[in-house]
Amino acid sequence: MRQRKVKNEEEKLSKHNQYLINKPQRYKGKWHQLFNNNNSIYAEFGCGKGQFILTMAELYPNNNYIAFEGRGSVILRALEKAAQKGFNNVVFVKEYINDSREYFEESELSGIYLNFSDPWPKLRHAKRRLTHSRYLKGYQTVLKKDGCIEFKTDNDDLFEFALDEFKSHGMKLLEISRDLHNTELEAKNVTTEYEDKFRTEGKKINYCKVQTAPVQL
Ligand SMILES: C[S@@+](CC[C@H](N)C(=O)[O-])C[C@H]1O[C@@H](n2cnc3c(N)ncnc32)[C@H](O)[C@@H]1O
Repeated sequence: MRQRKVKNEEEKLSKHNQYLINKPQRYKGKWHQLFNNNNSIYAEFGCGKGQFILTMAELYPNNNYIAFEGRGSVILRALEKAAQKGFNNVVFVKEYINDSREYFEESELSGIYLNFSDPWPKLRHAKRRLTHSRYLKGYQTVLKKDGCIEFKTDNDDLFEFALDEFKSHGMKLLEISRDLHNTELEAKNVTTEYEDKFRTEGKKINYCKVQTAPVQL
């Protein structure tokens, strides 16, 4: 999905200070203070226009959500929707995540969502995939012992790559489907913008949920 350039993007973003977290690293280990409660915290990396995370925030008001998205014009749409709804359990970070340990303390997260992550099909770009080993080490540290990663993609090669990476990190496969919308898992599924588009095109959606094993320090 191509995103048009937004005029006065910075100015428009600056109107959403309640939801857009400036210098997010300062909240490392302190996200509960920001939300002003001790509820579980979940993160999405690459949230796009926020359909998934905002629906989760609405469905599960007793959870906190932090969504990362690198593109300003895209996250702006998520911020506008959050402000309209007036949620108090979701915030956004306009950054391309590199190492989740920059933002989160050990065991600070209860779950991580990776939805339709950019596939980076060329082998020489494999390290940029959000399910590459170099990211997984960070996820294992910032997730609680029983924390989970949920991953969805239309891209079969990326899915197989992710499964291999999860396995090689000792993660436990809890749920898997190579056609999510034709299984009973569909009942609890919350869709994303990309997912809705792919579903309309008749594409099968891959899904898995893995439980992280603690990283060996
Ligand atoms: C293919 S889109 C999917 C968007 C949304 N998750 C969905 O399913 O509709 C992937 C998004 O991830 C963002 N992205 C890619 N790498 C990222 C990173 N390292 N940190 C944060 N966002 C990232 C891109 O800017 C893009 O908006």
